[in-house]
Amino acid sequence: MTSLTGKKIVVTAGPTIEAIDPVRFLSNRSSGKQGYLIAEALAHRGADVRLVSGPVCLPCPFDVTRIEVESACEMLAAVEAELPADVFIAVAAVSDWRPAETRARKAEKSALATTLHLVENPDILRTIATRKTGRPDLVIGFAAETHDVLERARAKRRRKDCDWIIANDVSGDVMGGDENAVWLISDHEEIVWPRTQKAGIAALLSDRIVAAFSGI
Ligand code: C5P
Repeated sequence: MTSLTGKKIVVTAGPTIEAIDPVRFLSNRSSGKQGYLIAEALAHRGADVRLVSGPVCLPCPFDVTRIEVESACEMLAAVEAELPADVFIAVAAVSDWRPAETRARKAEKSALATTLHLVENPDILRTIATRKTGRPDLVIGFAAETHDVLERARAKRRRKDCDWIIANDVSGDVMGGDENAVWLISDHEEIVWPRTQKAGIAALLSDRIVAAFSGI
């Protein structure tokens, strides 16, 4: 099998945290495991992997260069600093919002509920996928959906302008289980991957990227 030697791949992983004040923040639930496993699988296939990671409790995978960030804005800047790249894979659970201002001093509890204003964070995946210059050849996103999975994932792929989207059904009690199907959706095909364990998804996705670059 052809390897990914000579390919530079940027992967985002983990949550972002958005500071409210020195002690409080907004964030998302994310272990970072899926992104780290993908980074590891790609490095194993010879790629030069840059893992732009929010705060997680995971060691840096072997042969991967990790760039540690906290907020969505930092994550976007770190990804852009790694371009040009051949592939971009957005696995991070980016916080949709950040406080309009980060207070230098701990805010009064009573004041926060009425004075905390949020602004939307940049969509990192869409920003990279819609770049006029230096867009990676292959841009891949993830879509975890609780309903109308395929329909919503297809729409998300178009909205974000990414080439592939990995969709999974996180409804009911499938979160963390082995039962949910995962789909790879591109503009011309939809492939079901019955294996849903995170290491399995990392291996299948990496092999698919190898195949895409070898023209299979
Ligand atoms: O819109 P939604 O959060 O469901 O999209 C998920 C996909 O978009 C994931 O690939 C995620 O990493 C990426 N994303 C991003 N920046 C955001 C929000 C989501 O890169 N601000």
